[in-house]
Amino acid sequence: MNTLRLTPQDAPQAADIIAQGGLVAFPTETVYGLGANGLDPAAVAAIFAAKGRPQDNPLILHIPSAGHLERYCQNIPPAAYALARRFWPGPLTMILPRREVVPDVVTAGLDTVGMRCPNHPAALELLELCQLPVAAPSANTSGRPSPTTAQAVLEDMDGKIRAVVDGGPCQVGVESTIVDLTVSPPRLLRPGGVTLEELREAIGPVEVDEAVLRLMSTDEKPRAPGMKYRHYAPKAPVTVVRGDPAATARYIAQHLAPGVGVICFEDYVNLYPGCPLRSLGPQGDRAEQARRLFEALRWFDTQGGVAAIYAQSPDSDGLGLAVTNRLNKAAGFHIIDL
Ligand code: TXA
Ligand code: MG
Repeated sequence: MNTLRLTPQDAPQAADIIAQGGLVAFPTETVYGLGANGLDPAAVAAIFAAKGRPQDNPLILHIPSAGHLERYCQNIPPAAYALARRFWPGPLTMILPRREVVPDVVTAGLDTVGMRCPNHPAALELLELCQLPVAAPSANTSGRPSPTTAQAVLEDMDGKIRAVVDGGPCQVGVESTIVDLTVSPPRLLRPGGVTLEELREAIGPVEVDEAVLRLMSTDEKPRAPGMKYRHYAPKAPVTVVRGDPAATARYIAQHLAPGVGVICFEDYVNLYPGCPLRSLGPQGDRAEQARRLFEALRWFDTQGGVAAIYAQSPDSDGLGLAVTNRLNKAAGFHIIDL
């Protein structure tokens, strides 16, 4: 299949492809999504095939406004509307009880469905034109870091999908925050662009699911099925070094050897002359770290001879919780605490 390169101006063509059951990768503020008609089981099945995604990992539905929630969800709690008012369009996915119209293949048989209204003009225009819920996981091959540019989408999906809409680099860089509103108190299943602090400010107590903080063993059943899979991992094993940034930078410098790659804050790049290295930006700028992380992880796979990667980690305040969660997952929770 020849994968068309489209621009946001081609939204009508992208919407037609989706209406006909095809797959279109499109930009959102978080990462690129791989979209299909969420009411068409065959189109949704094609998403799983293109990604090599396990069948038990449900997809989220994208809608152009909170006004569409009741078409696909029922028994919607007031907290959902409060969150939608405050954070939509934006990087927040809400897990809600689903209606029958949502096919089983979308939810992997669960009686809940993830709903998201993305904050990106090209995505919103596409969703308005489709007038369908667009099922869209991140547009990467299953297990690889999510794509934050159209180029990264093509690395994984060229020839497998009908089109990619190039909307430039994603502004947030890590996937949406997922909050489960079918339990009390609501539970954070995946940290992302909307922070835990912001959620609590908006709706009160929110619990953090264990899968956010530690490695789940293969026989455990996390509430977000995707959380149990190895994720975001470059080919070389990653070790996260956690603690005071000056100390973690020194620790990594002491462990350099041929074939060791480094992910560090901009403040410390001079400590690693000649090393394969990606900077996450200034140590105090977590938004920049979120934007750069997935490209950094992908970059090491394009370099020959990297046998191991050491990564500095921010603390887990604010957006840091999302950055550390993705880094820790890329490392299989192989973490050195200083
Ligand atoms: O930012 C994002 O959310 C991006 C963009 C494209 O919107 N999408 C995305 O989708 O990250 P995906 O499929 O890569 O991640 C969705 C996560 C998976 O871990 C999945 O297991 C979880 O959401 N999920 C989906 N439906 C769920 C449900 N009903 N209950 C619990 N977890 C669910
Ligand atoms: Mg994903």
